[in-house]
Amino acid sequence: MPKCVTLIRNVEVADGSGRSPEIADVAIDQGRILAIGSLHNYEAENIFDGEGKVLAPGFIDVHTHDDTSVIRGPQMLPKLSQGVTTVVVGNCGISASPVQLRGEPPDPMNLLGNAESFRYPTFAAYAHAISAAQPAVNVAALVGHTALRNNHMDRLDRAATGVEIEGMRVQLQEALDHGATGLSTGLAYLSAHSSSTEEVMALAELLAAAGAIYATHLRSETETILQAMDEAVRIGKHAAVPVVISHLKCAGIANWGRSAEVLEWLDHARQHQPIGCDCYPYAAGSSTLDLRQVDERVKIQITWSKAHPEKAGQTLAQIAEAWGVQQIEAARRLQPAGAIYHSIAEQDMQAILRHPGTMIGSDGLPNDPLPHPRLWGTFPRVLGRYCREQGLFPLGEAVRKMTSLPAQRFGLADRGWIREGHYADLVLFDPATVRDVATFEDPVRASIGIEAVWVNGALSYREQTPTGERAGRFLPRRPNRSTR
Ligand code: ZN
Ligand code: CU
Repeated sequence: MPKCVTLIRNVEVADGSGRSPEIADVAIDQGRILAIGSLHNYEAENIFDGEGKVLAPGFIDVHTHDDTSVIRGPQMLPKLSQGVTTVVVGNCGISASPVQLRGEPPDPMNLLGNAESFRYPTFAAYAHAISAAQPAVNVAALVGHTALRNNHMDRLDRAATGVEIEGMRVQLQEALDHGATGLSTGLAYLSAHSSSTEEVMALAELLAAAGAIYATHLRSETETILQAMDEAVRIGKHAAVPVVISHLKCAGIANWGRSAEVLEWLDHARQHQPIGCDCYPYAAGSSTLDLRQVDERVKIQITWSKAHPEKAGQTLAQIAEAWGVQQIEAARRLQPAGAIYHSIAEQDMQAILRHPGTMIGSDGLPNDPLPHPRLWGTFPRVLGRYCREQGLFPLGEAVRKMTSLPAQRFGLADRGWIREGHYADLVLFDPATVRDVATFEDPVRASIGIEAVWVNGALSYREQTPTGERAGRFLPRRPNRSTR
């Protein structure tokens, strides 16, 4: 009789391909998927009845700012409770490594923590720290352009010189040699906005030889978004690497209704080179409080403020009224601060979410005391609100966006599919009840309907409770041969 550690019986298997789920038994042994099919002759130490449930590859959160939280909070409950088994850190130009600070981290690196959180002068030191911390989820890491700039430049409101670019290239190469997944930029932020396209190209040139990718928070997500997308495409073409447009959106009221135009432009670019995007399933964004985004017509919630911590949770309109000033002046007084901007149209977000090239990325901010609910709700929200309730896509397609598509794009070998021999990163959920419960008013709440989560074969979450297993690994980039 064949033996295995874990057997999940009679379950609807959504294998990551995009196809509709099909009933099967799945056997797990030694951290990998041993067999899939009709396995009643198998003997197992642990047997799960999967009747009425769906088994999918563990979700891959391609857009996170979990760089320091995977080390400081290795239980990773916000992600594990959603069925996420791998996070990609280092997005938007900001990464925990390689970093040498002089003083406090500049905006928006401060989203990752204060100066004490940045302890990794080399990427190798960071990868080592992840392994030592034993997080509950796997971690793949990008290197942030802004982090590199800050290591080599006395001020960030200008383009880098040739010597500075050379210094950044040396550090990026060290990171790629130690398994970095790619380079990220945050060109909209003032700390990177003055960099030239050529500066980014000079860095991106190193990526192709390592099989790495370029992920970008565009230079503009508002009126000039198409020019910003064109810049991203030119950088990808110059470096001959795949491009991921981070949290694609049409931000700002003047930009509402443009998703069709933006996606048409993306489709055209996709005919010529590998390019995709990620998206979070909410009509609101969140980051540091940016004076350029203050618009009295847009609801802005303050998530934190160094100058006025007591104002966290209030809207900028309330604060401005209490102080008897304009919102822009209130925003100035709150600095440095964080905010949620309700500046996206629901219809645009849905159109982008539905696009076949769109992956799911939470963009959650784990250091915020009152975080945007995407930190705890993104993946169950895609399955519950957008797949089951609104019928935006079939279940198989929802799973593909969260599993095989990102595994292939980010070079996560033997993950993202339910296939024999693949790592047993798995999530068991109830398709009839799975949903997010975190809200803008009450954002720190675990989703419901996630029944069990395995990471590298270890049962890590069960019945709304972490088991205490922390079986995640640092994932160096390795192209996924099986899905090419
Ligand atoms: Zn971003
Ligand atoms: Cu981000």
